[in-house]
Amino acid sequence: MRVQCDAPILDHQQLSDCEFEITLHAPEVAKQAAPGQFAHLLLSNNYDPLLRRPFSVYRVNRDEGSFSMVYLARGVFTQGLRQKRVGQLVPIVAPLGNRFVYEPDDDRTHVLVAGGVGAPPLCFLAREMVGSGCGGRIVVINGARSRSHLIGAHELSQMPVELHVLTDDGSTGCKGIVTDVLADMLTELNPSMATVYACGPTAMLRAVTDLIVPVGIPGQVSVETPMPCALGVCMGCVIKLHHAAPPGFIYKRSCADGPIFAADQIIWDN
Ligand SMILES: Cc1cc2nc3c(=O)[nH]c(=O)nc-3n(C[C@H](O)[C@H](O)[C@H](O)COP(=O)(O)OP(=O)(O)OC[C@H]3O[C@@H](n4cnc5c(N)ncnc54)[C@H](O)[C@@H]3O)c2cc1C
Ligand code: FES
Repeated sequence: MRVQCDAPILDHQQLSDCEFEITLHAPEVAKQAAPGQFAHLLLSNNYDPLLRRPFSVYRVNRDEGSFSMVYLARGVFTQGLRQKRVGQLVPIVAPLGNRFVYEPDDDRTHVLVAGGVGAPPLCFLAREMVGSGCGGRIVVINGARSRSHLIGAHELSQMPVELHVLTDDGSTGCKGIVTDVLADMLTELNPSMATVYACGPTAMLRAVTDLIVPVGIPGQVSVETPMPCALGVCMGCVIKLHHAAPPGFIYKRSCADGPIFAADQIIWDN
Protein backbone atom coordinates (compact mmCIF):
# COMPACT_ATOMS: atom_id res chain seq x y z
CA MET A 1 0.00 0.00 0.00
CA ARG A 2 1.37 3.42 -0.90
CA VAL A 3 2.50 5.86 1.78
CA GLN A 4 2.29 9.66 1.72
CA CYS A 5 4.65 11.32 4.18
CA ASP A 6 7.41 13.87 4.72
CA ALA A 7 10.49 11.62 4.73
CA PRO A 8 13.68 12.79 6.51
CA ILE A 9 16.88 12.69 4.47
CA LEU A 10 19.33 10.21 6.05
CA ASP A 11 22.10 10.62 3.49
CA HIS A 12 22.78 12.61 0.32
CA GLN A 13 25.89 11.72 -1.66
CA GLN A 14 27.39 13.06 -4.86
CA LEU A 15 28.36 9.94 -6.86
CA SER A 16 29.88 11.70 -9.89
CA ASP A 17 29.76 15.12 -11.62
CA CYS A 18 25.95 15.37 -11.81
CA GLU A 19 24.87 12.08 -10.20
CA PHE A 20 23.45 12.08 -6.66
CA GLU A 21 22.03 9.39 -4.38
CA ILE A 22 19.47 10.58 -1.83
CA THR A 23 18.44 8.25 1.01
CA LEU A 24 15.17 8.78 2.85
CA HIS A 25 13.86 7.29 6.06
CA ALA A 26 10.51 5.69 5.20
CA PRO A 27 10.19 2.20 6.74
CA GLU A 28 6.92 1.29 5.02
CA VAL A 29 8.35 2.19 1.62
CA ALA A 30 11.55 0.26 2.34
CA LYS A 31 9.51 -2.78 3.34
CA GLN A 32 7.34 -2.82 0.22
CA ALA A 33 9.31 -1.31 -2.67
CA ALA A 34 10.33 -3.60 -5.54
CA PRO A 35 12.49 -3.07 -8.65
CA GLY A 36 10.66 -0.90 -11.19
CA GLN A 37 8.55 0.96 -8.65
CA PHE A 38 8.96 4.67 -8.08
CA ALA A 39 8.37 7.51 -5.62
CA HIS A 40 6.60 10.78 -6.48
CA LEU A 41 8.45 13.71 -4.92
CA LEU A 42 7.80 17.34 -4.08
CA LEU A 43 10.65 19.67 -3.18
CA SER A 44 8.59 21.12 -0.33
CA ASN A 45 5.04 21.50 0.86
CA ASN A 46 4.80 24.99 -0.68
CA TYR A 47 4.41 23.28 -4.10
CA ASP A 48 7.23 25.08 -5.90
CA PRO A 49 7.63 23.53 -8.46
CA LEU A 50 3.93 22.73 -8.50
CA LEU A 51 4.02 19.21 -9.88
CA ARG A 52 5.58 16.20 -8.24
CA ARG A 53 8.30 14.34 -10.18
CA PRO A 54 8.74 10.55 -10.36
CA PHE A 55 12.04 8.90 -9.35
CA SER A 56 12.69 5.17 -9.39
CA VAL A 57 13.59 3.32 -6.23
CA TYR A 58 17.29 2.48 -6.52
CA ARG A 59 18.05 0.69 -3.26
CA VAL A 60 16.19 -0.39 -0.13
CA ASN A 61 17.63 -1.02 3.31
CA ARG A 62 14.90 -2.80 5.23
CA ASP A 63 16.92 -2.99 8.48
CA GLU A 64 17.44 0.78 8.48
CA GLY A 65 13.92 1.49 7.14
CA SER A 66 15.30 3.54 4.27
CA PHE A 67 15.28 3.68 0.50
CA SER A 68 17.31 5.69 -1.97
CA MET A 69 16.96 7.21 -5.42
CA VAL A 70 19.68 8.24 -7.84
CA TYR A 71 19.18 11.31 -9.98
CA LEU A 72 21.06 13.48 -12.42
CA ALA A 73 20.97 17.14 -11.35
CA ARG A 74 19.90 18.80 -14.59
CA GLY A 75 16.58 20.74 -14.48
CA VAL A 76 14.68 22.91 -12.03
CA PHE A 77 13.52 20.05 -9.82
CA THR A 78 16.73 18.09 -9.58
CA GLN A 79 18.83 21.25 -9.07
CA GLY A 80 16.49 22.05 -6.16
CA LEU A 81 16.77 18.50 -4.83
CA ARG A 82 20.57 18.63 -4.77
CA GLN A 83 20.41 21.59 -2.35
CA LYS A 84 18.63 19.44 0.24
CA ARG A 85 20.63 18.52 3.33
CA VAL A 86 20.57 15.57 5.74
CA GLY A 87 17.72 15.99 8.24
CA GLN A 88 15.49 18.02 5.92
CA LEU A 89 12.17 16.56 4.83
CA VAL A 90 11.10 15.45 1.36
CA PRO A 91 7.35 15.04 0.72
CA ILE A 92 6.83 11.66 -0.98
CA VAL A 93 4.14 9.30 -2.19
CA ALA A 94 5.55 5.78 -2.62
CA PRO A 95 5.91 3.04 -3.64
CA LEU A 96 3.99 3.48 -6.88
CA GLY A 97 3.61 1.45 -10.06
CA ASN A 98 4.25 -2.18 -10.94
CA ARG A 99 7.51 -4.11 -10.80
CA PHE A 100 9.83 -6.08 -13.07
CA VAL A 101 9.10 -9.80 -12.82
CA TYR A 102 11.72 -12.52 -13.43
CA GLU A 103 11.74 -16.29 -13.35
CA PRO A 104 14.53 -17.88 -11.31
CA ASP A 105 16.06 -20.42 -13.70
CA ASP A 106 19.67 -21.54 -14.18
CA ASP A 107 19.21 -21.75 -17.95
CA ARG A 108 17.59 -18.35 -18.51
CA THR A 109 19.36 -15.27 -19.86
CA HIS A 110 18.26 -11.96 -18.37
CA VAL A 111 19.24 -8.92 -20.43
CA LEU A 112 18.88 -5.60 -18.62
CA VAL A 113 19.04 -2.60 -20.97
CA ALA A 114 19.47 0.78 -19.26
CA GLY A 115 19.67 4.23 -20.82
CA GLY A 116 20.57 7.37 -18.83
CA VAL A 117 18.20 7.92 -15.90
CA GLY A 118 16.59 4.58 -16.76
CA ALA A 119 19.45 2.81 -14.99
CA PRO A 120 18.36 3.07 -11.30
CA PRO A 121 15.46 0.57 -11.42
CA LEU A 122 17.61 -1.89 -13.38
CA CYS A 123 20.45 -1.59 -10.85
CA PHE A 124 17.87 -2.46 -8.17
CA LEU A 125 16.69 -5.39 -10.31
CA ALA A 126 20.25 -6.67 -10.91
CA ARG A 127 21.02 -6.40 -7.18
CA GLU A 128 17.84 -8.31 -6.31
CA MET A 129 18.51 -11.01 -8.94
CA VAL A 130 22.05 -11.53 -7.68
CA GLY A 131 21.00 -11.41 -4.01
CA SER A 132 18.14 -13.85 -4.44
CA GLY A 133 20.33 -16.32 -6.35
CA CYS A 134 17.91 -16.34 -9.27
CA GLY A 135 20.44 -18.24 -11.38
CA GLY A 136 21.01 -17.96 -15.09
CA ARG A 137 23.07 -15.43 -16.99
CA ILE A 138 22.59 -11.75 -16.16
CA VAL A 139 23.73 -9.29 -18.82
CA VAL A 140 23.51 -5.54 -18.17
CA ILE A 141 23.86 -3.08 -21.05
CA ASN A 142 24.21 0.41 -19.56
CA GLY A 143 24.41 3.41 -21.85
CA ALA A 144 24.19 7.18 -21.73
CA ARG A 145 25.00 10.26 -23.75
CA SER A 146 28.33 10.77 -22.00
CA ARG A 147 30.26 9.86 -18.88
CA SER A 148 28.46 12.55 -16.85
CA HIS A 149 25.05 11.13 -17.81
CA LEU A 150 25.89 7.53 -16.91
CA ILE A 151 24.25 6.09 -13.78
CA GLY A 152 25.11 3.02 -11.76
CA ALA A 153 28.10 1.82 -13.79
CA HIS A 154 30.44 1.71 -10.79
CA GLU A 155 28.13 -0.43 -8.64
CA LEU A 156 27.23 -2.69 -11.56
CA SER A 157 30.93 -3.28 -12.20
CA GLN A 158 31.20 -4.78 -8.69
CA MET A 159 28.35 -7.25 -9.29
CA PRO A 160 28.67 -10.75 -10.80
CA VAL A 161 26.95 -9.72 -14.04
CA GLU A 162 28.18 -9.33 -17.62
CA LEU A 163 28.38 -5.56 -17.95
CA HIS A 164 28.58 -3.55 -21.17
CA VAL A 165 29.03 0.21 -20.73
CA LEU A 166 28.51 2.50 -23.69
CA THR A 167 28.42 6.23 -24.26
CA ASP A 168 27.37 8.09 -27.39
CA ASP A 169 30.60 10.11 -27.34
CA GLY A 170 32.94 7.36 -26.10
CA SER A 171 33.86 9.38 -22.95
CA THR A 172 33.65 6.15 -20.95
CA GLY A 173 33.08 2.52 -21.93
CA CYS A 174 32.69 1.76 -25.63
CA LYS A 175 31.52 4.37 -28.09
CA GLY A 176 28.05 3.43 -29.25
CA ILE A 177 24.49 2.84 -28.15
CA VAL A 178 22.90 0.07 -26.12
CA THR A 179 21.05 -1.42 -29.06
CA ASP A 180 24.39 -2.08 -30.84
CA VAL A 181 25.20 -4.63 -28.13
CA LEU A 182 21.66 -5.99 -27.95
CA ALA A 183 21.56 -6.48 -31.74
CA ASP A 184 24.85 -8.42 -31.60
CA MET A 185 23.47 -10.70 -28.87
CA LEU A 186 20.19 -11.57 -30.56
CA THR A 187 21.42 -14.56 -32.56
CA GLU A 188 22.74 -16.29 -29.42
CA LEU A 189 19.50 -15.81 -27.43
CA ASN A 190 16.86 -18.53 -27.32
CA PRO A 191 13.53 -16.61 -27.25
CA SER A 192 11.93 -19.10 -24.86
CA MET A 193 14.87 -18.83 -22.43
CA ALA A 194 15.59 -15.09 -22.52
CA THR A 195 13.92 -11.97 -21.16
CA VAL A 196 14.79 -8.36 -21.83
CA TYR A 197 14.10 -5.67 -19.20
CA ALA A 198 14.48 -2.09 -20.41
CA CYS A 199 14.21 1.42 -19.01
CA GLY A 200 15.36 4.63 -20.66
CA PRO A 201 14.33 7.33 -23.10
CA THR A 202 11.44 6.59 -25.46
CA ALA A 203 13.65 6.41 -28.57
CA MET A 204 15.79 3.74 -26.89
CA LEU A 205 12.78 1.73 -25.70
CA ARG A 206 11.32 1.83 -29.16
CA ALA A 207 14.59 0.62 -30.70
CA VAL A 208 14.79 -2.20 -28.13
CA THR A 209 11.25 -3.38 -28.90
CA ASP A 210 11.91 -3.13 -32.65
CA LEU A 211 14.77 -5.61 -32.13
CA ILE A 212 13.19 -8.13 -29.76
CA VAL A 213 9.50 -8.29 -30.70
CA PRO A 214 10.01 -9.56 -34.30
CA VAL A 215 12.19 -12.44 -33.02
CA GLY A 216 9.80 -13.34 -30.20
CA ILE A 217 11.98 -12.44 -27.21
CA PRO A 218 9.73 -11.30 -24.35
CA GLY A 219 10.45 -7.87 -22.95
CA GLN A 220 9.37 -5.74 -20.01
CA VAL A 221 9.67 -2.07 -20.81
CA SER A 222 9.47 0.75 -18.25
CA VAL A 223 8.33 3.99 -19.88
CA GLU A 224 9.51 7.48 -18.83
CA THR A 225 6.27 9.39 -19.41
CA PRO A 226 5.78 12.65 -17.47
CA MET A 227 3.42 11.95 -14.58
CA PRO A 228 1.51 14.97 -13.27
CA CYS A 229 -0.48 13.14 -10.56
CA ALA A 230 0.84 9.51 -10.49
CA LEU A 231 -2.44 8.56 -8.81
CA GLY A 232 -4.24 7.36 -11.93
CA VAL A 233 -6.54 10.40 -12.01
CA CYS A 234 -5.39 13.02 -14.52
CA MET A 235 -4.78 10.79 -17.59
CA GLY A 236 -1.69 12.87 -18.39
CA CYS A 237 0.53 9.80 -18.67
CA VAL A 238 -1.39 7.47 -20.98
CA ILE A 239 0.28 5.23 -23.54
CA LYS A 240 -1.31 3.26 -26.36
CA LEU A 241 -1.39 -0.55 -26.23
CA HIS A 242 -2.62 -3.20 -28.67
CA HIS A 243 -6.10 -4.44 -27.85
CA ALA A 244 -8.15 -7.31 -29.34
CA ALA A 245 -11.45 -5.40 -29.50
CA PRO A 246 -12.09 -2.55 -31.99
CA PRO A 247 -10.54 -0.05 -32.59
CA GLY A 248 -7.53 -2.32 -31.95
CA PHE A 249 -5.90 -0.26 -29.24
CA ILE A 250 -6.51 0.91 -25.71
CA TYR A 251 -4.99 3.67 -23.58
CA LYS A 252 -3.39 2.73 -20.28
CA ARG A 253 -2.01 4.98 -17.53
CA SER A 254 1.76 4.68 -17.14
CA CYS A 255 1.55 5.56 -13.46
CA ALA A 256 -1.23 3.23 -12.33
CA ASP A 257 -1.11 0.43 -14.94
CA GLY A 258 2.66 0.67 -15.51
CA PRO A 259 5.27 2.06 -15.75
CA ILE A 260 6.28 -1.44 -16.98
CA PHE A 261 4.48 -2.91 -19.98
CA ALA A 262 5.04 -5.96 -22.18
CA ALA A 263 7.20 -4.93 -25.13
CA ASP A 264 4.88 -6.52 -27.69
CA GLN A 265 1.86 -4.60 -26.36
CA ILE A 266 3.13 -1.06 -26.84
CA ILE A 267 2.15 1.05 -29.86
CA TRP A 268 4.83 3.70 -30.16
CA ASP A 269 3.14 6.05 -32.62
CA ASN A 270 1.29 8.10 -29.98
C1 LIG B 1 8.69 6.23 -13.70
C2 LIG B 1 9.80 7.25 -13.81
C3 LIG B 1 10.96 7.06 -13.09
C4 LIG B 1 11.99 8.02 -13.16
N1 LIG B 1 13.13 7.79 -12.45
C5 LIG B 1 14.14 8.68 -12.49
C6 LIG B 1 15.33 8.45 -11.74
O1 LIG B 1 15.47 7.43 -11.05
N2 LIG B 1 16.32 9.39 -11.80
C7 LIG B 1 16.18 10.53 -12.56
O2 LIG B 1 17.13 11.34 -12.59
N3 LIG B 1 15.07 10.77 -13.29
C8 LIG B 1 14.04 9.89 -13.27
N4 LIG B 1 12.90 10.10 -14.00
C9 LIG B 1 12.78 11.34 -14.77
C10 LIG B 1 12.42 12.51 -13.86
O3 LIG B 1 11.25 12.29 -13.12
C11 LIG B 1 12.16 13.79 -14.67
O4 LIG B 1 13.09 13.92 -15.70
C12 LIG B 1 12.21 15.02 -13.78
O5 LIG B 1 11.54 16.07 -14.41
C13 LIG B 1 13.61 15.41 -13.54
O6 LIG B 1 13.64 16.69 -13.02
P1 LIG B 1 14.54 17.81 -13.73
O7 LIG B 1 14.93 18.75 -12.66
O8 LIG B 1 15.62 17.18 -14.51
O9 LIG B 1 13.60 18.44 -14.81
P2 LIG B 1 12.53 19.59 -14.59
O10 LIG B 1 13.20 20.89 -14.86
O11 LIG B 1 11.86 19.38 -13.29
O12 LIG B 1 11.50 19.23 -15.74
C14 LIG B 1 11.94 19.11 -17.10
C15 LIG B 1 10.78 19.56 -17.99
O13 LIG B 1 9.69 18.65 -17.85
C16 LIG B 1 8.50 19.37 -17.52
N5 LIG B 1 7.71 18.53 -16.62
C17 LIG B 1 8.09 18.05 -15.43
N6 LIG B 1 7.11 17.30 -14.89
C18 LIG B 1 6.10 17.31 -15.78
C19 LIG B 1 4.81 16.74 -15.82
N7 LIG B 1 4.39 15.99 -14.82
N8 LIG B 1 4.05 16.95 -16.90
C20 LIG B 1 4.47 17.70 -17.92
N9 LIG B 1 5.68 18.28 -17.95
C21 LIG B 1 6.48 18.10 -16.90
C22 LIG B 1 9.00 20.62 -16.83
O14 LIG B 1 8.04 21.67 -16.91
C23 LIG B 1 10.25 20.94 -17.63
O15 LIG B 1 9.96 21.60 -18.83
C24 LIG B 1 11.86 9.17 -13.97
C25 LIG B 1 10.69 9.36 -14.71
C26 LIG B 1 9.67 8.40 -14.65
C27 LIG B 1 8.41 8.60 -15.43
S1 FES C 1 -0.01 10.81 -13.97
FE1 FES C 1 -2.12 11.27 -13.66
S2 FES C 1 -3.09 9.47 -14.42
FE2 FES C 1 -0.99 9.00 -14.53
